[in-house]
Amino acid sequence: MKLQVKIGNVNQISSDMLIVGLFKDTKKLSGAIAAVDSMLKGIISSALVQNEIEGKLGESLLFHSFGRIAAKKVLVVGMGERKKFNLDSIRTASASAIRQAQKLKTKQVISVLHGEGEGVLDIEDCAAALVEGAILGSYKFEGYKTGKDSNPSFRVKEFTLVEGDHNKISKIKAGVRQAEICASAQNNARDLVAAPANKMTPTAIANYAQKMARSVGISCKISDPHKLKFGAMLSVSEGSKDLPKVVILKYHHSPKAETIGLVGKGVTFDSGGISIKPSRRLWEMKTDMSGAAAVIEVMRAAAQLKVRKNIIAVIPLCENMPDGKAARPGDVITSYSGKTIEIISTDAEGRMLLIDSLNYAQKLGATRLVDVATLTGGCVVALGDVASGIMGNVNHKIVEEILEASKITGEKMWELPLYDEYKEYLKSDIADFKNCSEGRGASASTGGVFVSEVVGKTPWAHIDIAGTAFLHHSRGCLGAGATGTPVRTLVRWLAR
Ligand code: BES
Ligand code: ZN
Ligand code: ZN
Repeated sequence: MKLQVKIGNVNQISSDMLIVGLFKDTKKLSGAIAAVDSMLKGIISSALVQNEIEGKLGESLLFHSFGRIAAKKVLVVGMGERKKFNLDSIRTASASAIRQAQKLKTKQVISVLHGEGEGVLDIEDCAAALVEGAILGSYKFEGYKTGKDSNPSFRVKEFTLVEGDHNKISKIKAGVRQAEICASAQNNARDLVAAPANKMTPTAIANYAQKMARSVGISCKISDPHKLKFGAMLSVSEGSKDLPKVVILKYHHSPKAETIGLVGKGVTFDSGGISIKPSRRLWEMKTDMSGAAAVIEVMRAAAQLKVRKNIIAVIPLCENMPDGKAARPGDVITSYSGKTIEIISTDAEGRMLLIDSLNYAQKLGATRLVDVATLTGGCVVALGDVASGIMGNVNHKIVEEILEASKITGEKMWELPLYDEYKEYLKSDIADFKNCSEGRGASASTGGVFVSEVVGKTPWAHIDIAGTAFLHHSRGCLGAGATGTPVRTLVRWLAR
Protein backbone atom coordinates (compact mmCIF):
# COMPACT_ATOMS: atom_id res chain seq x y z
CA MET A 1 0.00 0.00 0.00
CA LYS A 2 1.47 3.29 -1.12
CA LEU A 3 1.02 6.05 1.46
CA GLN A 4 0.74 9.71 0.59
CA VAL A 5 -0.08 13.03 2.19
CA LYS A 6 -1.80 15.66 0.05
CA ILE A 7 -2.64 19.27 0.74
CA GLY A 8 -6.01 20.30 -0.59
CA ASN A 9 -9.77 20.16 -0.39
CA VAL A 10 -11.05 16.59 -0.02
CA ASN A 11 -13.88 17.42 -2.42
CA GLN A 12 -11.47 18.02 -5.22
CA ILE A 13 -9.10 15.07 -4.93
CA SER A 14 -10.12 12.20 -7.14
CA SER A 15 -10.07 8.69 -5.78
CA ASP A 16 -12.19 5.57 -5.61
CA MET A 17 -13.23 6.21 -2.02
CA LEU A 18 -13.16 8.97 0.57
CA ILE A 19 -13.25 8.00 4.25
CA VAL A 20 -14.81 10.33 6.80
CA GLY A 21 -15.50 9.59 10.47
CA LEU A 22 -18.71 10.01 12.45
CA PHE A 23 -19.04 10.50 16.21
CA LYS A 24 -21.86 8.57 17.86
CA ASP A 25 -23.16 11.16 20.30
CA THR A 26 -22.64 14.41 18.44
CA LYS A 27 -23.44 12.97 14.99
CA LYS A 28 -20.59 15.13 13.78
CA LEU A 29 -18.47 14.08 10.83
CA SER A 30 -14.72 14.15 11.41
CA GLY A 31 -12.40 16.36 9.46
CA ALA A 32 -13.86 19.49 8.00
CA ILE A 33 -17.55 18.68 7.63
CA ALA A 34 -17.82 21.67 5.33
CA ALA A 35 -15.41 19.91 3.05
CA VAL A 36 -18.11 17.50 1.94
CA ASP A 37 -20.43 18.80 -0.78
CA SER A 38 -23.70 20.17 0.59
CA MET A 39 -25.98 17.81 -1.33
CA LEU A 40 -23.90 14.82 -0.28
CA LYS A 41 -23.96 16.14 3.24
CA GLY A 42 -27.77 16.22 3.01
CA ILE A 43 -27.89 12.58 1.91
CA ILE A 44 -25.58 11.53 4.72
CA SER A 45 -27.60 13.56 7.23
CA SER A 46 -30.84 11.86 6.22
CA ALA A 47 -29.17 8.45 6.65
CA LEU A 48 -28.20 9.61 10.13
CA VAL A 49 -31.72 10.76 10.93
CA GLN A 50 -33.05 7.37 9.89
CA ASN A 51 -30.43 5.66 12.05
CA GLU A 52 -28.87 3.80 9.14
CA ILE A 53 -25.58 4.49 10.86
CA GLU A 54 -25.21 5.45 14.52
CA GLY A 55 -21.49 6.12 14.71
CA LYS A 56 -20.61 3.10 16.84
CA LEU A 57 -16.87 2.49 16.74
CA GLY A 58 -15.91 0.61 13.58
CA GLU A 59 -19.40 0.57 12.03
CA SER A 60 -19.56 1.90 8.44
CA LEU A 61 -21.93 2.96 5.68
CA LEU A 62 -21.18 3.51 1.99
CA PHE A 63 -22.51 6.35 -0.17
CA HIS A 64 -22.05 6.93 -3.90
CA SER A 65 -21.07 10.48 -4.66
CA PHE A 66 -22.66 10.71 -8.14
CA GLY A 67 -20.03 13.20 -9.21
CA ARG A 68 -20.84 15.71 -6.47
CA ILE A 69 -17.25 15.41 -5.28
CA ALA A 70 -14.12 14.04 -6.96
CA ALA A 71 -14.15 10.79 -4.95
CA LYS A 72 -16.43 8.12 -6.46
CA LYS A 73 -17.70 6.89 -3.10
CA VAL A 74 -17.80 8.09 0.49
CA LEU A 75 -17.42 5.65 3.35
CA VAL A 76 -18.66 7.00 6.66
CA VAL A 77 -17.01 5.14 9.52
CA GLY A 78 -18.16 5.21 13.15
CA MET A 79 -15.72 6.60 15.71
CA GLY A 80 -17.72 5.90 18.86
CA GLU A 81 -18.52 8.32 21.62
CA ARG A 82 -16.64 11.54 21.64
CA LYS A 83 -15.84 11.46 25.33
CA LYS A 84 -14.25 8.00 24.99
CA PHE A 85 -12.40 9.02 21.84
CA ASN A 86 -8.64 8.39 21.82
CA LEU A 87 -5.84 7.31 19.49
CA ASP A 88 -7.06 3.73 19.61
CA SER A 89 -10.49 4.80 18.35
CA ILE A 90 -8.70 6.23 15.33
CA ARG A 91 -6.83 2.95 14.77
CA THR A 92 -9.99 0.88 15.09
CA ALA A 93 -12.04 3.14 12.80
CA SER A 94 -9.28 3.29 10.22
CA ALA A 95 -8.78 -0.50 10.30
CA SER A 96 -12.48 -1.09 9.85
CA ALA A 97 -12.63 1.37 6.93
CA ILE A 98 -9.67 -0.21 5.15
CA ARG A 99 -11.18 -3.70 5.57
CA GLN A 100 -14.41 -2.41 4.02
CA ALA A 101 -12.45 -0.81 1.18
CA GLN A 102 -10.59 -4.08 0.67
CA LYS A 103 -13.83 -6.06 0.61
CA LEU A 104 -15.16 -3.70 -2.09
CA LYS A 105 -11.91 -4.09 -4.06
CA THR A 106 -11.15 -0.38 -3.85
CA LYS A 107 -7.79 0.62 -5.32
CA GLN A 108 -7.34 4.20 -4.16
CA VAL A 109 -8.53 5.46 -0.82
CA ILE A 110 -8.28 8.96 0.58
CA SER A 111 -9.01 9.83 4.17
CA VAL A 112 -9.44 12.93 6.24
CA LEU A 113 -7.62 13.05 9.55
CA HIS A 114 -9.84 11.96 12.45
CA GLY A 115 -9.53 13.40 15.89
CA GLU A 116 -7.39 16.36 15.14
CA GLY A 117 -9.21 19.44 16.37
CA GLU A 118 -10.67 17.43 19.24
CA GLY A 119 -8.31 19.39 21.45
CA VAL A 120 -6.28 16.88 23.38
CA LEU A 121 -4.67 14.72 20.75
CA ASP A 122 -1.38 15.52 19.09
CA ILE A 123 -1.73 15.88 15.33
CA GLU A 124 1.35 13.79 14.59
CA ASP A 125 -0.02 10.96 16.79
CA CYS A 126 -3.44 11.24 15.08
CA ALA A 127 -1.90 10.89 11.63
CA ALA A 128 0.23 7.97 12.85
CA ALA A 129 -2.79 6.23 14.39
CA LEU A 130 -4.77 6.56 11.16
CA VAL A 131 -1.99 4.98 9.13
CA GLU A 132 -1.29 2.30 11.74
CA GLY A 133 -4.97 1.35 11.64
CA ALA A 134 -4.84 1.09 7.86
CA ILE A 135 -1.65 -1.00 7.76
CA LEU A 136 -2.44 -3.25 10.73
CA GLY A 137 -6.12 -3.54 9.76
CA SER A 138 -5.41 -4.68 6.22
CA TYR A 139 -2.95 -7.37 7.36
CA LYS A 140 -3.59 -10.95 6.43
CA PHE A 141 -1.28 -13.95 6.79
CA GLU A 142 -1.12 -15.36 3.29
CA GLY A 143 -0.47 -18.95 4.38
CA TYR A 144 0.16 -22.01 2.24
CA LYS A 145 -3.07 -22.68 0.34
CA THR A 146 -2.78 -24.13 -3.14
CA GLY A 147 -5.06 -24.10 -6.19
CA LYS A 148 -7.70 -21.43 -6.61
CA ASP A 149 -7.52 -20.47 -2.93
CA SER A 150 -3.88 -19.57 -3.33
CA ASN A 151 -4.50 -16.15 -4.92
CA PRO A 152 -3.10 -13.43 -2.72
CA SER A 153 -5.85 -11.37 -1.13
CA PHE A 154 -6.87 -8.05 -2.64
CA ARG A 155 -4.95 -5.07 -1.32
CA VAL A 156 -5.71 -1.37 -1.41
CA LYS A 157 -3.01 0.16 -3.63
CA GLU A 158 -2.96 3.78 -2.46
CA PHE A 159 -3.87 5.39 0.82
CA THR A 160 -3.76 9.17 0.87
CA LEU A 161 -4.24 11.46 3.83
CA VAL A 162 -5.78 14.77 2.85
CA GLU A 163 -5.35 17.95 4.85
CA GLY A 164 -6.36 21.49 3.97
CA ASP A 165 -4.04 23.33 6.34
CA HIS A 166 -0.46 23.84 5.09
CA ASN A 167 0.86 24.37 8.59
CA LYS A 168 -0.03 20.85 9.65
CA ILE A 169 1.55 19.00 6.76
CA SER A 170 5.06 18.52 8.12
CA LYS A 171 3.76 17.05 11.39
CA ILE A 172 1.36 14.80 9.50
CA LYS A 173 4.15 13.59 7.23
CA ALA A 174 6.34 12.79 10.24
CA GLY A 175 3.50 10.78 11.81
CA VAL A 176 2.84 8.91 8.58
CA ARG A 177 6.49 7.97 8.15
CA GLN A 178 6.88 6.73 11.70
CA ALA A 179 3.62 4.78 11.47
CA GLU A 180 4.51 3.18 8.16
CA ILE A 181 7.83 1.92 9.51
CA CYS A 182 6.42 0.71 12.83
CA ALA A 183 3.22 -0.89 11.58
CA SER A 184 4.98 -2.62 8.67
CA ALA A 185 7.57 -3.98 11.11
CA GLN A 186 4.75 -5.20 13.32
CA ASN A 187 3.10 -6.96 10.35
CA ASN A 188 6.42 -8.64 9.54
CA ALA A 189 6.57 -9.91 13.13
CA ARG A 190 3.02 -11.27 12.71
CA ASP A 191 4.15 -13.21 9.62
CA LEU A 192 7.00 -14.79 11.58
CA VAL A 193 4.70 -15.77 14.45
CA ALA A 194 1.91 -17.11 12.24
CA ALA A 195 4.23 -19.42 10.30
CA PRO A 196 4.37 -22.99 11.66
CA ALA A 197 7.32 -24.45 13.55
CA ASN A 198 8.38 -26.75 10.70
CA LYS A 199 8.96 -23.68 8.51
CA MET A 200 10.05 -21.14 11.12
CA THR A 201 12.97 -23.12 12.54
CA PRO A 202 15.83 -21.48 14.49
CA THR A 203 17.92 -21.53 11.30
CA ALA A 204 15.12 -19.98 9.22
CA ILE A 205 14.62 -17.15 11.74
CA ALA A 206 18.37 -16.56 11.99
CA ASN A 207 18.60 -16.30 8.20
CA TYR A 208 15.63 -13.93 8.19
CA ALA A 209 17.33 -11.73 10.79
CA GLN A 210 20.50 -11.68 8.74
CA LYS A 211 18.65 -10.60 5.61
CA MET A 212 16.82 -7.91 7.58
CA ALA A 213 20.12 -6.64 9.04
CA ARG A 214 21.67 -6.40 5.58
CA SER A 215 18.69 -4.52 4.22
CA VAL A 216 18.85 -1.81 6.90
CA GLY A 217 22.65 -1.76 7.31
CA ILE A 218 23.11 -3.10 10.83
CA SER A 219 25.44 -5.86 11.96
CA CYS A 220 24.30 -9.44 12.48
CA LYS A 221 26.18 -12.40 13.90
CA ILE A 222 24.77 -15.90 14.15
CA SER A 223 26.41 -17.86 16.97
CA ASP A 224 26.27 -21.39 18.27
CA PRO A 225 25.10 -21.48 21.91
CA HIS A 226 27.51 -24.41 22.49
CA LYS A 227 30.40 -22.10 21.65
CA LEU A 228 28.98 -19.30 23.82
CA LYS A 229 28.55 -21.74 26.74
CA PHE A 230 24.87 -20.91 27.08
CA GLY A 231 24.33 -23.79 29.50
CA ALA A 232 20.79 -22.83 30.50
CA MET A 233 19.67 -22.45 26.88
CA LEU A 234 21.31 -25.74 25.89
CA SER A 235 19.28 -27.59 28.53
CA VAL A 236 16.25 -26.62 26.44
CA SER A 237 17.56 -27.24 22.94
CA GLU A 238 19.20 -30.65 23.26
CA GLY A 239 16.03 -32.64 22.57
CA SER A 240 15.50 -31.09 19.16
CA LYS A 241 16.97 -32.08 15.81
CA ASP A 242 16.91 -28.40 14.76
CA LEU A 243 20.18 -26.69 15.65
CA PRO A 244 19.89 -23.89 18.21
CA LYS A 245 21.14 -20.44 17.23
CA VAL A 246 21.85 -17.17 18.95
CA VAL A 247 21.44 -14.09 16.77
CA ILE A 248 23.24 -10.92 17.80
CA LEU A 249 22.09 -7.74 16.07
CA LYS A 250 23.82 -4.43 16.67
CA TYR A 251 22.60 -0.98 15.79
CA HIS A 252 25.13 1.75 16.44
CA HIS A 253 24.10 5.38 16.78
CA SER A 254 27.06 7.08 18.46
CA PRO A 255 29.78 6.34 21.03
CA LYS A 256 28.11 8.79 23.42
CA ALA A 257 24.63 7.27 23.32
CA GLU A 258 23.49 4.76 25.93
CA THR A 259 23.47 1.08 24.96
CA ILE A 260 20.22 -0.78 25.33
CA GLY A 261 20.11 -4.59 25.35
CA LEU A 262 17.04 -6.30 23.91
CA VAL A 263 16.30 -9.99 24.30
CA GLY A 264 13.40 -11.89 22.71
CA LYS A 265 12.40 -15.44 23.65
CA GLY A 266 12.67 -17.53 20.50
CA VAL A 267 11.29 -20.98 21.28
CA THR A 268 10.14 -22.06 17.83
CA PHE A 269 7.97 -24.75 19.37
CA ASP A 270 7.32 -25.40 23.05
CA SER A 271 6.12 -28.95 23.57
CA GLY A 272 7.04 -28.62 27.24
CA GLY A 273 9.88 -31.10 26.76
CA ILE A 274 9.88 -34.08 29.15
CA SER A 275 7.37 -32.10 31.29
CA ILE A 276 5.17 -32.42 28.22
CA LYS A 277 2.14 -30.16 27.76
CA PRO A 278 -1.42 -31.45 27.28
CA SER A 279 -2.36 -31.72 23.60
CA ARG A 280 -5.28 -29.29 23.61
CA ARG A 281 -4.28 -26.27 21.53
CA LEU A 282 -0.67 -27.41 21.60
CA TRP A 283 -0.30 -26.11 18.02
CA GLU A 284 -0.39 -22.61 19.51
CA MET A 285 3.07 -23.18 20.95
CA LYS A 286 4.43 -22.39 17.49
CA THR A 287 3.95 -18.80 18.69
CA ASP A 288 6.47 -19.22 21.52
CA MET A 289 9.01 -17.27 19.45
CA SER A 290 6.86 -14.10 19.44
CA GLY A 291 9.37 -12.25 21.62
CA ALA A 292 12.16 -13.01 19.15
CA ALA A 293 9.99 -11.91 16.22
CA ALA A 294 9.16 -8.64 17.97
CA VAL A 295 12.81 -7.89 18.83
CA ILE A 296 14.01 -8.58 15.27
CA GLU A 297 11.40 -6.19 13.91
CA VAL A 298 12.08 -3.55 16.57
CA MET A 299 15.69 -3.58 15.34
CA ARG A 300 14.53 -3.07 11.76
CA ALA A 301 12.29 -0.12 12.68
CA ALA A 302 14.87 1.43 15.03
CA ALA A 303 17.48 1.33 12.26
CA GLN A 304 15.08 2.79 9.71
CA LEU A 305 14.12 5.59 12.09
CA LYS A 306 17.77 6.11 13.09
CA VAL A 307 16.93 6.25 16.81
CA ARG A 308 19.48 7.99 19.02
CA LYS A 309 20.51 4.95 21.05
CA ASN A 310 22.91 2.06 20.56
CA ILE A 311 21.06 -1.23 20.64
CA ILE A 312 22.32 -4.77 21.05
CA ALA A 313 19.75 -7.49 20.47
CA VAL A 314 20.47 -11.03 21.64
CA ILE A 315 17.95 -13.48 20.24
CA PRO A 316 18.12 -17.09 21.46
CA LEU A 317 16.40 -19.51 19.05
CA CYS A 318 15.67 -23.17 19.70
CA GLU A 319 12.95 -25.76 20.04
CA ASN A 320 11.78 -27.45 23.28
CA MET A 321 11.18 -31.14 22.54
CA PRO A 322 11.11 -34.41 24.50
CA ASP A 323 13.83 -36.84 23.44
CA GLY A 324 16.48 -39.21 24.76
CA LYS A 325 18.87 -36.27 24.76
CA ALA A 326 16.47 -33.81 26.37
CA ALA A 327 17.00 -32.44 29.87
CA ARG A 328 15.04 -34.15 32.65
CA PRO A 329 13.18 -32.64 35.59
CA GLY A 330 15.63 -32.81 38.48
CA ASP A 331 18.70 -32.18 36.31
CA VAL A 332 21.11 -29.49 37.48
CA ILE A 333 22.75 -27.34 34.82
CA THR A 334 25.26 -24.48 34.84
CA SER A 335 24.11 -21.32 33.10
CA TYR A 336 26.29 -18.87 31.16
CA SER A 337 26.60 -16.79 34.34
CA GLY A 338 28.08 -19.74 36.22
CA LYS A 339 25.02 -20.05 38.47
CA THR A 340 23.62 -23.56 38.86
CA ILE A 341 19.94 -24.28 38.24
CA GLU A 342 17.83 -27.25 39.25
CA ILE A 343 15.27 -27.93 36.54
CA ILE A 344 11.93 -28.54 38.20
CA SER A 345 9.93 -28.33 34.97
CA THR A 346 11.38 -28.53 31.48
CA ASP A 347 8.33 -26.48 30.48
CA ALA A 348 9.73 -23.43 32.29
CA GLU A 349 12.21 -23.15 29.43
CA GLY A 350 11.81 -19.54 28.31
CA ARG A 351 13.56 -18.13 31.37
CA MET A 352 16.52 -20.44 30.66
CA LEU A 353 16.98 -18.73 27.29
CA LEU A 354 16.43 -15.29 28.78
CA ILE A 355 19.05 -15.45 31.54
CA ASP A 356 21.91 -16.55 29.28
CA SER A 357 20.99 -13.97 26.65
CA LEU A 358 20.52 -11.10 29.12
CA ASN A 359 23.87 -11.88 30.74
CA TYR A 360 25.48 -11.98 27.33
CA ALA A 361 23.96 -8.60 26.41
CA GLN A 362 25.43 -7.23 29.66
CA LYS A 363 28.82 -8.62 28.70
CA LEU A 364 28.55 -6.95 25.29
CA GLY A 365 28.05 -3.61 27.02
CA ALA A 366 24.31 -3.07 27.46
CA THR A 367 23.61 -0.82 30.43
CA ARG A 368 19.81 -1.14 30.40
CA LEU A 369 17.93 -4.29 29.42
CA VAL A 370 14.50 -5.26 28.12
CA ASP A 371 13.27 -8.75 27.41
CA VAL A 372 10.10 -9.79 25.63
CA ALA A 373 8.77 -13.31 26.11
CA THR A 374 5.70 -15.52 25.95
CA LEU A 375 6.79 -16.62 29.40
CA THR A 376 3.90 -17.80 31.55
CA GLY A 377 0.38 -19.16 31.44
CA GLY A 378 -0.01 -17.29 34.74
CA CYS A 379 0.21 -14.00 32.89
CA VAL A 380 -2.64 -15.15 30.63
CA VAL A 381 -4.69 -16.03 33.73
CA ALA A 382 -4.02 -12.60 35.25
CA LEU A 383 -4.46 -10.31 32.25
CA GLY A 384 -6.01 -12.40 29.47
CA ASP A 385 -5.28 -11.36 25.90
CA VAL A 386 -5.91 -7.70 26.73
CA ALA A 387 -2.67 -6.58 28.39
CA SER A 388 0.93 -7.75 28.54
CA GLY A 389 2.51 -8.06 31.99
CA ILE A 390 5.46 -5.81 32.68
CA MET A 391 7.93 -6.19 35.53
CA GLY A 392 11.14 -4.42 36.51
CA ASN A 393 13.97 -4.51 39.02
CA VAL A 394 16.05 -1.91 40.90
CA ASN A 395 15.40 1.01 38.69
CA HIS A 396 11.74 1.56 38.12
CA LYS A 397 12.27 4.31 35.55
CA ILE A 398 12.57 1.93 32.63
CA VAL A 399 9.18 0.35 33.39
CA GLU A 400 7.60 3.78 33.68
CA GLU A 401 9.06 4.89 30.37
CA ILE A 402 7.77 1.81 28.56
CA LEU A 403 4.34 2.14 30.18
CA GLU A 404 4.22 5.75 29.01
CA ALA A 405 5.01 4.70 25.42
CA SER A 406 2.38 1.96 25.59
CA LYS A 407 -0.31 4.48 26.50
CA ILE A 408 0.27 6.20 23.17
CA THR A 409 0.57 3.04 21.08
CA GLY A 410 -2.48 1.43 22.67
CA GLU A 411 -0.58 -1.80 23.37
CA LYS A 412 -1.83 -2.26 26.93
CA MET A 413 0.63 -3.27 29.64
CA TRP A 414 0.05 -3.82 33.34
CA GLU A 415 2.73 -3.97 35.97
CA LEU A 416 3.05 -7.11 38.08
CA PRO A 417 5.18 -7.20 41.26
CA LEU A 418 8.58 -8.79 41.80
CA TYR A 419 8.35 -9.13 45.58
CA ASP A 420 11.40 -10.55 47.38
CA GLU A 421 9.10 -13.13 48.99
CA TYR A 422 8.78 -14.90 45.64
CA LYS A 423 12.47 -15.73 45.81
CA GLU A 424 11.58 -18.32 48.44
CA TYR A 425 9.67 -20.24 45.77
CA LEU A 426 12.92 -20.69 43.87
CA LYS A 427 15.14 -21.98 46.71
CA SER A 428 16.81 -25.25 45.81
CA ASP A 429 18.46 -27.73 48.18
CA ILE A 430 21.10 -28.72 45.65
CA ALA A 431 21.62 -25.77 43.28
CA ASP A 432 21.62 -21.95 43.35
CA PHE A 433 18.00 -21.82 42.14
CA LYS A 434 15.13 -23.93 40.95
CA ASN A 435 13.87 -22.89 37.51
CA CYS A 436 10.29 -22.59 38.78
CA SER A 437 8.10 -22.97 41.80
CA GLU A 438 6.49 -26.27 42.81
CA GLY A 439 3.29 -24.42 43.62
CA ARG A 440 0.91 -22.73 41.24
CA GLY A 441 0.62 -19.18 42.53
CA ALA A 442 2.05 -15.99 41.03
CA SER A 443 3.78 -17.79 38.18
CA ALA A 444 4.23 -14.63 36.07
CA SER A 445 5.97 -12.87 38.97
CA THR A 446 7.99 -15.98 39.86
CA GLY A 447 9.23 -16.16 36.27
CA GLY A 448 10.21 -12.51 36.50
CA VAL A 449 11.95 -13.00 39.84
CA PHE A 450 13.93 -15.94 38.45
CA VAL A 451 15.26 -13.73 35.65
CA SER A 452 15.89 -10.79 38.00
CA GLU A 453 18.11 -12.97 40.23
CA VAL A 454 20.49 -13.46 37.36
CA VAL A 455 20.27 -9.98 35.84
CA GLY A 456 21.47 -8.32 39.06
CA LYS A 457 21.48 -4.56 39.36
CA THR A 458 21.35 -3.51 35.72
CA PRO A 459 18.07 -1.63 35.10
CA TRP A 460 15.83 -4.15 33.38
CA ALA A 461 12.23 -4.55 32.27
CA HIS A 462 10.56 -7.85 31.44
CA ILE A 463 7.48 -7.95 29.23
CA ASP A 464 5.39 -11.14 29.37
CA ILE A 465 3.36 -11.38 26.15
CA ALA A 466 2.01 -14.93 26.66
CA GLY A 467 -1.57 -13.64 26.48
CA THR A 468 -1.19 -10.85 23.94
CA ALA A 469 1.01 -12.38 21.24
CA PHE A 470 -1.91 -14.22 19.66
CA LEU A 471 -5.63 -13.35 19.54
CA HIS A 472 -8.42 -15.86 19.08
CA HIS A 473 -10.84 -13.11 18.09
CA SER A 474 -10.25 -9.84 16.32
CA ARG A 475 -9.97 -6.80 18.58
CA GLY A 476 -9.57 -3.12 17.68
CA CYS A 477 -7.32 -2.72 14.69
CA LEU A 478 -5.95 -6.29 15.00
CA GLY A 479 -7.55 -9.31 13.36
CA ALA A 480 -7.50 -12.77 14.95
CA GLY A 481 -4.06 -14.42 14.96
CA ALA A 482 -0.56 -13.13 15.64
CA THR A 483 -0.43 -9.53 16.90
CA GLY A 484 3.25 -8.55 16.60
CA THR A 485 3.06 -6.89 20.01
CA PRO A 486 4.95 -4.95 21.46
CA VAL A 487 6.89 -3.76 18.39
CA ARG A 488 5.31 -0.31 18.26
CA THR A 489 5.68 0.35 21.97
CA LEU A 490 9.35 -0.55 22.09
CA VAL A 491 10.12 1.50 18.99
CA ARG A 492 8.24 4.45 20.45
CA TRP A 493 10.22 4.06 23.67
CA LEU A 494 13.55 3.84 21.81
CA ALA A 495 12.70 6.82 19.62
CA ARG A 496 11.99 9.14 22.57
N1 BES B 1 5.42 -20.91 26.53
C1 BES B 1 4.85 -21.15 27.81
C2 BES B 1 3.93 -20.03 28.27
C3 BES B 1 2.69 -19.76 27.48
C4 BES B 1 1.46 -20.21 27.91
C5 BES B 1 2.73 -19.01 26.31
C6 BES B 1 0.31 -19.94 27.19
C7 BES B 1 1.60 -18.74 25.58
C8 BES B 1 0.39 -19.19 26.03
C9 BES B 1 5.96 -21.31 28.86
O1 BES B 1 7.15 -21.84 28.39
C10 BES B 1 5.45 -22.25 29.90
O2 BES B 1 5.16 -23.37 29.57
N2 BES B 1 5.36 -21.77 31.13
C11 BES B 1 4.92 -22.57 32.22
C12 BES B 1 5.79 -22.26 33.42
C13 BES B 1 5.57 -23.17 34.58
C14 BES B 1 6.07 -24.55 34.27
C15 BES B 1 6.27 -22.60 35.79
C16 BES B 1 3.48 -22.22 32.54
O3 BES B 1 3.14 -21.04 32.52
O4 BES B 1 2.70 -23.13 32.76
ZN1 ZN C 1 7.17 -23.97 28.40
ZN1 ZN D 1 7.55 -21.47 26.35
